[in-house]
Amino acid sequence: MSSWLAMPCTPARMENLNLSSLLQNFTPSSPFTTQMWSRLKAALSIHKKKKGRRVVLLLNMNSQVRMFDDDISDAEKVYQECQQEGPLTFEECITPECMKLCCKIGEGTFGEVFSTTNQGNQTVALKIIPVEGKEKVNGEHQKTFGEILHEIIISKELSSLNDKEINKTKGFIGLNNLHCVQGSYPKQLLSAWDKFDKQRGSENDRPDFFGEKQMFLILEFEFGGSDLENMSGKLSSLAQAKAILLQVSATLAVAEQALQFEHRDLHWGNVLVKTTKEKTCTYVLNGTEHSIESKGVHVNIIDYSLSRLEIDGLTVSCDISADEELFMGQGDYQFDIYRKMREANNNSWKEYNPHTNVLWLHYLTDKLLGMKYKSSTKSAQMRALKNSLTCFYEELLSYRSATDVLQHSSLFH
Ligand SMILES: Nc1ncnc2c1ncn2[C@@H]1O[C@H](COP(=O)(O)OP(=O)(O)O)[C@@H](O)[C@H]1O
Ligand SMILES: [Mg+2]
Repeated sequence: MSSWLAMPCTPARMENLNLSSLLQNFTPSSPFTTQMWSRLKAALSIHKKKKGRRVVLLLNMNSQVRMFDDDISDAEKVYQECQQEGPLTFEECITPECMKLCCKIGEGTFGEVFSTTNQGNQTVALKIIPVEGKEKVNGEHQKTFGEILHEIIISKELSSLNDKEINKTKGFIGLNNLHCVQGSYPKQLLSAWDKFDKQRGSENDRPDFFGEKQMFLILEFEFGGSDLENMSGKLSSLAQAKAILLQVSATLAVAEQALQFEHRDLHWGNVLVKTTKEKTCTYVLNGTEHSIESKGVHVNIIDYSLSRLEIDGLTVSCDISADEELFMGQGDYQFDIYRKMREANNNSWKEYNPHTNVLWLHYLTDKLLGMKYKSSTKSAQMRALKNSLTCFYEELLSYRSATDVLQHSSLFH
């Protein structure tokens, strides 16, 4: 089997993944009756209970069509999403040249993230997530295939907002490809892991204990730059902070309009920033194109573990109502946000309540106001900017949604 990074695969973001376009093709003479639609809907909803989190899923167009005849397992659905018949080996997935270039760039509880260069000479980020194994990783149970489907589906939907017409944004990280592999952790990745640990210190377990039967999902994302948590002292001024807030607001607003999207975990490790030579960023909101000043930065939102969205009335969400630990955190405004979200939706996580996006914007504004910048805030212009960002922070919680913020906040007009 040929290697994935070497393979000229159709990038996931190029695929037609939208359920509405599937339905548009059905005419009254089509054999697709209401009854069949209900059956399909029933087959599409997966209810998993694990660690108190219930993941409610539906599958994308490709999978729905294939799923219709058989009630297939979560594992098979993941293979379908990966366009594989069964697992690959690491070697089949990552060519020796790409493997040599792997450098660990980040980590979360569930994923180790490495940068490398793909065959098209693009820098990409590989997020490697252990799946289905019995051993705990970083103190947590491994994700199941069902839970991993949640991340796959949302990553594909948001990535594909990049080439839509009515609601379009480049603010969600592009998903190029995804694969399912089996095997122990490759030596080169362990060396890259050690290097990161030496230089920056890792909070994760060294991933050397996985046996040959261990399964992993590898998501190949576009490289999004550095996360905001690691940008203190690196942004030039508050003008860039404002540009970041505007881009995040616009990106969330587009996804609210397109997919009734709530991110629900938009802490500063999940906001990526890279420099850009483009003077402006454009987005389309409800059919109208808008252009905003980039101030030299491009923002990408990542990590949809807790996110919620809807396609044609089918909801993809993660029920965190019984996840006590998540609501007990102290010591950072981030942990208050989980409690504030719960207050806003009465602990009902299937419902759409876009105020949760506003809560995360409030948190991000707080972080950006507290960050260090290369140029001081002493000039009259910077002091004025600081005042307007502070006013924004004070008025923000009165907005209903990111769309409301984008359209009515004085900071952006
Ligand atoms: N596409 C990307 N480009 C650059 N860095 C990334 C990318 N994706 C993830 N990272 C880095 O890896 C870290 C962990 O990734 P994330 O998707 O948030 O994993 P988790 O779900 O485990 O939190 C991020 O905080 C970021 O530093
Ligand atoms: Mg994360």
